[in-house]
Amino acid sequence: MRANKLTLTDFRNYASQSLEFSDGINILYGDNAQGKTNILEAVYLFSMGKANRARKDAELIRHGQSRADLELTFSDKERESVANISLFPNRRKVIQVNEIPVRKNSELVGRFRVVYFGPEYLGLVKEGPKGRRRNIDILISQLRPRYFSSLGDMKKLVESKNALLKMEHPNQAMLDILNEKLASVSAEVIAGRTEYLGKIGVLAEELQKEISSGRETLSIKYQSCIGEATGLDKKEITERLYQKLMEHRGRELALHESVVGPHREDIIYEINGMEAKAFASQGQQKTIVLVQKLAEVGLMEQETGELPVLLLDDIMSELDKTRRGFILSRIRDMQILITCTDVDGFPLEKDTKLFRVEDGKVQAE
Ligand SMILES: Nc1ncnc2c1ncn2[C@@H]1O[C@H](COP(=O)(O)OP(=O)(O)OP(=O)(O)O)[C@@H](O)[C@H]1O
Ligand SMILES: [Mg+2]
Repeated sequence: MRANKLTLTDFRNYASQSLEFSDGINILYGDNAQGKTNILEAVYLFSMGKANRARKDAELIRHGQSRADLELTFSDKERESVANISLFPNRRKVIQVNEIPVRKNSELVGRFRVVYFGPEYLGLVKEGPKGRRRNIDILISQLRPRYFSSLGDMKKLVESKNALLKMEHPNQAMLDILNEKLASVSAEVIAGRTEYLGKIGVLAEELQKEISSGRETLSIKYQSCIGEATGLDKKEITERLYQKLMEHRGRELALHESVVGPHREDIIYEINGMEAKAFASQGQQKTIVLVQKLAEVGLMEQETGELPVLLLDDIMSELDKTRRGFILSRIRDMQILITCTDVDGFPLEKDTKLFRVEDGKVQAE
């Protein structure tokens, strides 16, 4: 997977900017607040159809302007495509791929695949389960379009269910209908997380062994409300989940909120059998996140036969020499976009391209 050319018009602090990336390492460097992360955010937008930082499209439009336009030329092993995204303050974004309108994000996600690793991920192990679910959801969505649609449907159903439960006297027949639908839609999500976390776990265990010189065994476990779901088909998952929802029905009515379902589940990291959240050192936790991200790259290659584009936002400065070296030794033959304030310490090889970022302008060197 390659991002070839990016053009921005009135996106964030860019009035008008074009960049042509190298197939290898691309280093965007410059002082703070100049627009480095904004470039990665723009590229990321083409993978998921929404930004990873901004909550609203309006934040992405350059101050004082009424729209933003982005174009990305990218290629996978089969063909080159051109995608366009236009953002507006008060209406839906308009997306096209090769001039064909993309009406739903689910038609976009999976075509241009990335793994994004920025400082906000460094707390992945120790912070709340939401970030861990989101991370894995982004990964699986790019690999399996049905997962992305089911996830969207599931979120909508949970919202409806919560709205119903908030009422003083919720309609119980309605609650049963919502629970039934929720169980069936969520089966795809639970099945996807079980399958892909299993695969990630195998890759991550290997990587962790390598980076710790054999001292650490990492295990990644999906903690689903239905218990171990490996080997269950979707019908069985649906039945078990429905049963769980029924068990908690009384409690949910009493608490006026939904307390069980895949929107409340967690992913547990263990090192040598001990939960990393509670026992791993800061450095070990960083290593786990790094390993998780590299395992995601490996999984994408395994599943699609192609490496994704790796976006590393300001991450090298957070890692010591050993971990940096480990990343760099692992990312041969793939395209990487790196942001940093200082280029020192990066290998400047023949397919490395440097971009100097200053006040909303990028200059290739
Ligand atoms: N909608 C917008 N319109 C104009 N400028 C914006 C908009 N959104 C963000 N900016 C500006 O973009 C700049 C931040 O860009 P970015 O986050 O890419 O910086 P950075 O180079 O990654 O900095 P750091 O090294 O601190 O991470 C800030 O100066 C911010 O004010
Ligand atoms: Mg930044």
